Amino acid sequence: MTATLDRALLGTLFAAEQARFVAEHPRSGALSELAQAHLLDGVPMNWMTRWASPYPVWVREAHGASFTCVDGLTYIDFCLGDTGAMAGHSPPATVAAAQRQLELGITTMLPTEDCLWVAEELSRRFGLRYWQVALTATDANRFAVRLARHVTRRPKILVFNYSYHGSVDETIITLNDGVPGPKPGNAGPPVDPTITTKVIEWNDLPALEEALAPRDVACVLAEPALTNIGIVLPEPGYHDALRRLTRETGTLLVIDETHTICAGPGGCTQVWDLAPDMITLGKPIGGGVPSAVYGFGPAIADLIHADWDYHATDECGIGGTLAGNALTLAAMRATLGEVLTEAAFAHTIPLAARWADGVQSVIDEERLPWVVKRLGCRAEYWPRPVPPKNGGEAAAAEDEQLDRYLHLSMLNRGILMTPFHNMALMAPQTTAADVDRHTEVLREAVVALFGRRAAKRAGGTADC
Ligand SMILES: Cc1ncc(COP(=O)(O)O)c(C=O)c1O
Repeated sequence: MTATLDRALLGTLFAAEQARFVAEHPRSGALSELAQAHLLDGVPMNWMTRWASPYPVWVREAHGASFTCVDGLTYIDFCLGDTGAMAGHSPPATVAAAQRQLELGITTMLPTEDCLWVAEELSRRFGLRYWQVALTATDANRFAVRLARHVTRRPKILVFNYSYHGSVDETIITLNDGVPGPKPGNAGPPVDPTITTKVIEWNDLPALEEALAPRDVACVLAEPALTNIGIVLPEPGYHDALRRLTRETGTLLVIDETHTICAGPGGCTQVWDLAPDMITLGKPIGGGVPSAVYGFGPAIADLIHADWDYHATDECGIGGTLAGNALTLAAMRATLGEVLTEAAFAHTIPLAARWADGVQSVIDEERLPWVVKRLGCRAEYWPRPVPPKNGGEAAAAEDEQLDRYLHLSMLNRGILMTPFHNMALMAPQTTAADVDRHTEVLREAVVALFGRRAAKRAGGTADC
């Protein structure tokens, strides 16, 4: 018999965790109070209000796979800046390169020699010849989408339900009861996203075929596996079909490896032998220094060269004053060359497998109707008994109350998980002991919630 959830108990446990958090984080509380004066909602970026704690933990310093808050508590960090710090916090090689470059000029809008090495390395890892640099993955996606529209002369793009590619206007769209429309909460959309974008479910080949048939889609923008509604893997043969259908309809295939770089040094593109027309990537590749890239092959480069107004290139909607700056390039060279290496993944991928095994043992012990999923050095659990096939299925199983309780229980016991869902990422500095501590803490949180009911069941008393 699978465990069932007692919502009243969940509420009581969550309230106790909140009280514990407040008692143990007086300094974070005081800073949050002060921050209300000039920062909207007391934070420098609105997502920081989304943590399960009554106010965020304020950070004093972060190193490797851990950080210490202003109240002097140290945490194992499985969130790692939601992948921005997947190379670990302040990896020494990146810090040394960045420090050197800080002394040598940060931005000049002229190339520095590091860009040669970085572009060659990206080509080696991802198989695409030409690369351009941006500051964020959002920008890399924005530029890729613009280039796709420019070279195909087609108006629309296609994304998958509950995908996330940054704050790119065209992508803030979902299927709402099967009908495409703005993603709930889409703030100030410039136009109705259904004008610019088609949205279908991941792993749905007939829908893909139908959407591409009118040949009005410039590009499909896809993560190789969804990661932002939890991990949703492609079904066998899906990528082959995606590639075939995009080719047959003259649609460009843009693969966003920003999170799926967790699969290995060349992301899923390398591991699954994908052949996209373009790749976008950001977050960890500069070791936390704002960095992103987008790449494409000679065919797209030719199309760009055939129809590019070089005179207008500074205001064409692609590029940016600080993009390609010397600091970013120095950080990327050091991070790719010395931190996010084959050897690093050989350490982090088995750790994620250990993490997933630990979670599975808790699921089995407590007979939870949950599933644990993994992609490379990223893993997570989701409150449904089998892996979701698409974003819609995954979203339908979301349980915010449960999620917040688990997050806060972890946090109060020294573990930071990725916000918005229960995902963990391994850094090169993460240890087996860190992973085992997570299993222990998860077990504690789960037993508090389900174990009592299990005990009641055993004693033959009321069940729900
Ligand atoms: C797959 C993917 N692409 C792009 C982005 C945008 O990254 P950023 O917020 O750094 O621009 C994200 C952010 O979570 C992402 O998950």
